[in-house]
Amino acid sequence: MAGRLEGKVAVITGAASGIGLGTVELFIAEGAKVVAADVQDEKGAMIESRFGDKVAYVHCDVTKETDLIAAIDKAVSAFGGLDILFNNAGAGGTMAGAAEVTAKAWDQVFALLVRAPALATRHAIPHMLKRGGGSIINTASIAGTEAGWGPLAYSTAKAAVIQLSRATAAEVSPQGIRVNAICPGLICTSIFGSSLGLPREVADQMAARIEEVAPLMQPVKLAGQPRHIAEAALFFASEASAFVTSTHLIVDGGITVGARHAWDPTAASPLLAAMGIEPEQALAMREAMKNA
Ligand code: NAI
Repeated sequence: MAGRLEGKVAVITGAASGIGLGTVELFIAEGAKVVAADVQDEKGAMIESRFGDKVAYVHCDVTKETDLIAAIDKAVSAFGGLDILFNNAGAGGTMAGAAEVTAKAWDQVFALLVRAPALATRHAIPHMLKRGGGSIINTASIAGTEAGWGPLAYSTAKAAVIQLSRATAAEVSPQGIRVNAICPGLICTSIFGSSLGLPREVADQMAARIEEVAPLMQPVKLAGQPRHIAEAALFFASEASAFVTSTHLIVDGGITVGARHAWDPTAASPLLAAMGIEPEQALAMREAMKNA
């Protein structure tokens, strides 16, 4: 089924790579016109040559309010208005823990992950109201719902993105603008390499390597791909979610379902280990106790 975004105009930040790029591809396939905003201009040029007049790339550092305004204005000047804003640009940021983090590093993470979607939202709202409503989608993370999936500042910022989405939804949903967040799990993109400070080309190669191990890390035996998140973004962007606002959707192949032994019979439960029972023994014992 194509055409679910026919006639719609979207601004997507972090559009040059990973989840953003996957969403550009899907939104255009569904009939949308897209302003692709990012700081990777070479990749932006490739997106423009690939999609022609369906896309406009803008150099946009989302930590700069003037860049955000220019990206949103581009939707109006190039495509006549704005219906969908996907605040997706992001990076891992400082790895510093609670006993080490500096004010500067903290502020950088929050400027990128929290202030940027808040300001983009602010500047998008008047344009969406002119169209009678719209959909704002923020990329949060499972790091925003549980500890252990990202560094301290990143995790805290992603939790803030969930609440930013909810609080904004309360304000603007009566005017026809729905606001939702997506919490991706492990998605095979460059973010892991780039967050370790590797050059972009190397980080891009890392994304393919992660694909090999990703299916082993969660109950769903697929490597999480940008298109899995793009499908969630499409749901929130389209009429299919007309009654959905203020929510956050976890799209993680079940990686946050619970302790590993809950879904992996070969993993040791700490409780059984304490009783000196190996996983294979536990399996045999469980088998014997079935319908006992
Ligand atoms: P990615 O590294 O492939 O893409 C991120 C994009 O954001 C890049 O194109 C980068 O140039 C852009 N970007 C970074 N800083 C920017 C800035 N100041 N202004 C404009 N653009 C900027 O990574 P990925 O995975 O596609 O990340 C997209 C979003 O998904 C991020 O918000 C990330 O935190 C989030 N996420 C990713 C997960 C994963 O497993 N890959 C898991 C949970 C959340």
